[in-house]
Amino acid sequence: METDEKIVSLRKKREEAMLGGGQKRIDAQHEKGKLTARERIKALVDPDSFEEFDMFVTHQCTSFGMEKNKIVGDGVITGCATIDKRVVFIFAQDFTVFGGSLSKAYADKICKVMEMAMKTGAPLIGLNDSGGARIQEGVDALAGYAEIFWRNVQASGVIPQISAIMGPCAGGAVYSPAITDFIIMDKKTSYMFVTGPKVVKTVLNEDISTQDLGGPVVHTSKSGVAHFITDDEEETIMLIRKLISYLPSNNMEDPPYDATTDPIDRKVTDLNDIIPANPNKPYDILEVIHAISDDGEFLEVARNFAQNIVVGFARMNGYSVGIVANQPKVLAGVLDINASTKAARFIRFCDAFNIPLLVLEDVPGFLPGSNQEHNGIIRHGAKLLYAFAEATVPKITVIIRKAYGGAYCVMNSRHMRADMVYAWPTAEIAVMGPKGAVEIIFRKDAKKAADPQAVLTEKEQEYKDNFANPYNAAEKGYIDDIIEPSETRFRIIRAFEMLANKKAHNPPKKHGNIPL
Ligand code: HXC
Repeated sequence: METDEKIVSLRKKREEAMLGGGQKRIDAQHEKGKLTARERIKALVDPDSFEEFDMFVTHQCTSFGMEKNKIVGDGVITGCATIDKRVVFIFAQDFTVFGGSLSKAYADKICKVMEMAMKTGAPLIGLNDSGGARIQEGVDALAGYAEIFWRNVQASGVIPQISAIMGPCAGGAVYSPAITDFIIMDKKTSYMFVTGPKVVKTVLNEDISTQDLGGPVVHTSKSGVAHFITDDEEETIMLIRKLISYLPSNNMEDPPYDATTDPIDRKVTDLNDIIPANPNKPYDILEVIHAISDDGEFLEVARNFAQNIVVGFARMNGYSVGIVANQPKVLAGVLDINASTKAARFIRFCDAFNIPLLVLEDVPGFLPGSNQEHNGIIRHGAKLLYAFAEATVPKITVIIRKAYGGAYCVMNSRHMRADMVYAWPTAEIAVMGPKGAVEIIFRKDAKKAADPQAVLTEKEQEYKDNFANPYNAAEKGYIDDIIEPSETRFRIIRAFEMLANKKAHNPPKKHGNIPL
């Protein structure tokens, strides 16, 4: 064959690969309102930056006549590209090829990019749209999944791993995204479950729709499996780019710096009035977060799950910061099981990737009750404690209002090795709230008195004067300073600057035993 012919042949093969499962299936994909795997990658990455691997791979299956049914690329597009000029590795499942189902060859392609991402210290992005294990492959498909899971675990805490669910994701296949750091689900097209509605009906005789069982609303608000819900694929893609902008490429790097024109000493005078006079009245902690962040920007993670705690990324003087904040607007900002696990996972992500932590605290305590106790608030609350105690990144706490009981200890207190602890003058730091405390310690005295209520009211005032303020803790050096709310942004930025070269290590160990 002449060189020219060889080139023509190569081009033909490439064109064939570009078509995946063929025009008819591409049209069907579009009719569902979905982009193809290639279109998704093109939209996600910097123009012309995609370097594809393994375009000519085909499956090796010989069962059920599959040897006569091969499609080049075999249902997953893999490779490397840049996002804002930073290298990322990508796999995008191609639903037009055997329903995006996973063969051993397909799994090997994914494993190859995972290994490249690990070797080069770059984030891994998975765009999921698949009918699960390729049924004709039998145990080979299962082996392929398990190889991916193993690599997901090896990569955990080494490179950021992001999963977008842009179609079906069912059966054991869900466990690869589950191990990754962030899951984004498309509102219209995605679902995730271990067993689908038909199996649920057979085994439990329960009627439930796909969406009610494992749709994005369920997973972002009830189960906490997914972190983001998006309206469409465009939003999913923009969100991945935005998320990446806050993250370092690996656990040895500092997070990216994005210069800001927002003055570091910008005073936020509104914050001086944000706390209501009545300590039982709520306010929105998001207002505080937006007010102190660079340009008011905040990327909230898991916004619809355990809304009594807010977690997410902001920038302070251009540097990425992970924020964990109690939300007094929801359940008075109490810590319950879901809030504890949500925050613990976020803290551990930030710590693994050198992202400093800022805690904004206004917490009345842990949620009481049999429901919480029986479901393990002790075990799950311990995760939050463990995560804060274990984190060695720079850690700053600002006690805004309530810091009561065990929640005071847990929420990145000085004793959990917070590097700097500030309090607003509105802070109340004590073992418990005034009313409850007085009823316990003065109940007998009150009973004996002619006017028990008068005794309790007087003692409550005394307790408030002594404890419902930050001065007691400041006298003991448990907090470093009491600051005016308006200067919070400046004080935090200056403290993070001071802590930039912090070095702290936990004792060497194989791994700790976080209460799971
Ligand atoms: C092989 C598959 C396939 C699969 C779909 N296809 N799933 N081929 N293995 N798992 C093929 C179809 O035959 C069809 O081929 C094409 O993909 C598109 O599928 P449709 O059914 O026409 O599409 P749609 O109506 O949109 O339905 C999508 C679907 C459905 C909901 C995903 O295909 C489905 O239920 N598939 C099976 C899902 C499943 O049970 N997977 C195994 C789960 S167990 P043609 O040629 O007609 O276009 C599992 C274990 C993993 O994954 C364990 C890991 C540890």
